[in-house]
Amino acid sequence: MAPEIFKGLKDVYLDTTKSSFIDGQEGKLLYRGYNIHDLAEKSTFEEVVYLLFYGSLPTQQQLQDFDDTLRANRRIPDEVIQVLDLVKASHPMDALRTGISALAAFDPDVNDNSEEATIRKGIRLTAMGPTIVGAHHRLRQGLEPVAPDPNLNHAGNFLYMLFNEAPDEETNKLLDVDFILHAEHGANASAFGARVVASTLSDLHSAVTTGIGVLKGPWHGGAAEEVMKMALEIGQPENAAEYCRNILDSGGRIMGFGHRVYKAEDPRARHLRDRSRALGDKVGQPHWFKILTYVEEEVMVPYRSRGIFVNVDFFAGSIYYLLNIPDDLFISIFALGRIPGWTLQCMEQYDDNMLIRPLLEYAGEMDLEFVPIEQRT
Ligand SMILES: CC(C)(COP(=O)(O)OP(=O)(O)OC[C@H]1O[C@@H](n2cnc3c(N)ncnc32)[C@H](O)[C@@H]1OP(=O)(O)O)[C@@H](O)C(=O)NCCC(=O)NCCS
Repeated sequence: MAPEIFKGLKDVYLDTTKSSFIDGQEGKLLYRGYNIHDLAEKSTFEEVVYLLFYGSLPTQQQLQDFDDTLRANRRIPDEVIQVLDLVKASHPMDALRTGISALAAFDPDVNDNSEEATIRKGIRLTAMGPTIVGAHHRLRQGLEPVAPDPNLNHAGNFLYMLFNEAPDEETNKLLDVDFILHAEHGANASAFGARVVASTLSDLHSAVTTGIGVLKGPWHGGAAEEVMKMALEIGQPENAAEYCRNILDSGGRIMGFGHRVYKAEDPRARHLRDRSRALGDKVGQPHWFKILTYVEEEVMVPYRSRGIFVNVDFFAGSIYYLLNIPDDLFISIFALGRIPGWTLQCMEQYDDNMLIRPLLEYAGEMDLEFVPIEQRT
């Protein structure tokens, strides 16, 4: 009897988790039991990373110590800067993947998969990821990398390393919230990829490198970049309907809509929607938000009955664009936010491991006769 096939592993539970809870019907997301709305409004990325790694909210002293450790671990070895210089023509995600991979050569814990060592490595990768992205971005413009500034928080320091200028408080908070919203999301495709790596008892650097590779695809992390490209091509709100119809009628998809798990609105979208509107008004470019709103509230309304709503990426791209971040850096920002989530997924996998190895039902030919090459026509 043919086995039942779970294509794309849709609706398959792989294991239990204490990382995040997702209710796709209600549109609810908790990290370690805490609602994403509270974390987005009341927390910081540093605090959320602590929560993900240690499972509870820190005291003031614990957070201070943890933040100090993050700040102290931002510098990357000169050799890794040299590697980034060699690959400076590559896409920023390829550079990040290469940079994280290269960091393995310098990490004293690389082959230690204990929880303590995995947290130490997760802290270092979280802290160094922005330095890789910042250095690569500078190098590809023929500029010197900007050294991390320990006086700035995680988000502020990243923007400082990109632009050689510390952001204002509002911009800093915007990116901080964006990092919080992207930090963890259960067994999504990239976290699953990272877990497969961990399940062979391979190391965290390999798992994070894999996560970056999986995230890069437009059906996962690449959507924010595609959404902003779409908004730019639409140009004016009145062009939105025809533009989207052309895509949808030819069987295409509108990027930033739909989700494997959420069949209601992605709870992360609301925070970026409000901020996209406010930022557009602030910088005198409100029309991008108008275009996106038109797509959401006019064009895509009929899709709601099929469970297709905006996801986290729909408004993210417009925020990055308005912050003058080049579009090929959008996915890298998602990746930087997600490094703690990948780390946590690997910690859980190591903690109660079983090799992840599904089956494929063979659908090819059987027992063919091997014809020697000189007799083949
Ligand atoms: C994320 C995504 C891959 C999830 O897909 P999934 O759970 O595998 O669902 P499917 O690909 O089977 O799609 C189910 C149906 O919804 C449609 N659909 C899904 N997303 C759509 C979108 N963004 N625009 C238009 N139609 C969409 C599919 O065409 C399919 O229609 P069909 O049943 O007539 O063939 C998908 O929604 C998508 O491609 N979205 C756009 C990319 C994106 O924003 N990714 C970021 C995710 S956070």
